[in-house]
Amino acid sequence: MNESPLDHCWYAVAAVDEVGPDPLAIEILSVPYVIWRGPEGLIAARDRCPHREAKLSNGTMQDGCLRCPYHGWVFGDEGRCVEIPSSGPEATIAPAAHLKTLNVEERYGLVWFCPGEPTSPIPHLGVDDDPSFTRLNTGIQVWDCSVTRMIDNMLDVAHFPYTHVGTFGREQEAVVPAFTIVQLDDTFTGYEYSVVIDNVGDTKLMSGGGADVLGLDMSTGFALPFSVRSTMTYENGIEQTLFMTAAPISAERSYYTFVLWRNDDVSTSGRAIVDFELNVTLEDKTMLENLSGELSLDRGGLADVAADRASVAWRRQYQALLASEDA
Ligand code: FES
Ligand SMILES: [Fe+2]
Repeated sequence: MNESPLDHCWYAVAAVDEVGPDPLAIEILSVPYVIWRGPEGLIAARDRCPHREAKLSNGTMQDGCLRCPYHGWVFGDEGRCVEIPSSGPEATIAPAAHLKTLNVEERYGLVWFCPGEPTSPIPHLGVDDDPSFTRLNTGIQVWDCSVTRMIDNMLDVAHFPYTHVGTFGREQEAVVPAFTIVQLDDTFTGYEYSVVIDNVGDTKLMSGGGADVLGLDMSTGFALPFSVRSTMTYENGIEQTLFMTAAPISAERSYYTFVLWRNDDVSTSGRAIVDFELNVTLEDKTMLENLSGELSLDRGGLADVAADRASVAWRRQYQALLASEDA
């Protein structure tokens, strides 16, 4: 275990309301884990009972403790084994009976999990602390494709007029203006650009209304390993942050979710905005699930053009991460 630098990264693996009252089974880098909610907060461990390796995620919650389905051992806070029914209540519990707990945190309405010792923080999204913004969460999806293809897609604007022709792509300009990759802030690396949009149809839902032609300032940036933040500031003052993040279940299976923050009143429009983004997401998912294998990281392995500059920058940093010493 913990043989790859990827084991030391944080991954969004669930929405907070997906954990509890039952234990949740997750998988990262082909290793099964269990997460449950104890009285002191979330607990994560290998999905493997120390006794005979039964799946703890098939167990039952009792008074905030997790009971193994096989012989009924009970695990409490910090993964401590607090009951071995076959030994009776007076027996001493050996250290090997306890679970090794792993890093798990709640942030932005998501459950973040790191299998090893984290070498970098959960991506910082300052907008979450700004009271003028409302956060809209969506559930975790499972995509049958490599996480590397997903982040490449999140950083790509050249596919909009084609892949997204069924949603917002019809009005998009095919030519991608030249952009430069910069450090956007302490967390995200990417590019900024401005466009003038036809503010009609579903675009009006996203822009919050206003004139039929609107200026829009945007930025798109990545945080290693598999997160992208896209910001939009409309000329009418409406701002939106879209955070997308993926996690490797296995080589060609991934978790995906997105979170939106907006500075307008989303009490009536929020559901429609999320549904619109879910439809956009489905277009990407359908496209990517038809591609097999991982994104080539080899120099010259892909025919890159100027519009792929952000993906190239990510690939360079990702390769450096993979080559880094295991912590
Ligand atoms: S395998 Fe879990 S109690 Fe025996
Ligand atoms: Fe897309």
